[in-house]
Amino acid sequence: MNPLHPLSLHVNGVAVQAQVEPRQHLADFLREQVGLTGTHLGCEYGVCGACTVRVDGRIVRACLMLAIQAQGCEVQTIEGLDAQGHYKDLQQAFVARNALQCGFCTPGMVMCASALLEQGGCPSRSDIRAHISGNYCRCTGYEAIVDAIEVTARTRAATTKA
Ligand code: FES
Ligand code: FES
Repeated sequence: MNPLHPLSLHVNGVAVQAQVEPRQHLADFLREQVGLTGTHLGCEYGVCGACTVRVDGRIVRACLMLAIQAQGCEVQTIEGLDAQGHYKDLQQAFVARNALQCGFCTPGMVMCASALLEQGGCPSRSDIRAHISGNYCRCTGYEAIVDAIEVTARTRAATTKA
């Protein structure tokens, strides 16, 4: 058995200290040691995007990052977005537009979309498609997801101008 390594980081603004195996990836760490199961695991080799989180603001596939690589970082998961309430509009748009069915891809989609929405403005539908192109959805056909992100961006931009 590999020796455990100390790890100290922030998850959704809360300081976390733990001991981790060097090979444990960030997604397993978040789910099993921090108890945040909103980060889903699909392919576990960096293809589906279900495990998308943000590390120091960057979109990251948590199945491809070792937990120890997050030493000293600020990790944000879907639970953190929900707690801040900054993305209630996006979450409501997903529901209103039927942008989820089984919901397995949804946390990763929302985390990915959050980074685009933070850039502000009104991204085109092709920009939105390109931005979420690394996140797979087996249920919706993507149109409703693009709708939800687009309407959220437009509503935010209109609110900012007013
Ligand atoms: Fe990480 Fe699929 S589980 S990309
Ligand atoms: Fe089922 Fe996207 S809603 S995979």
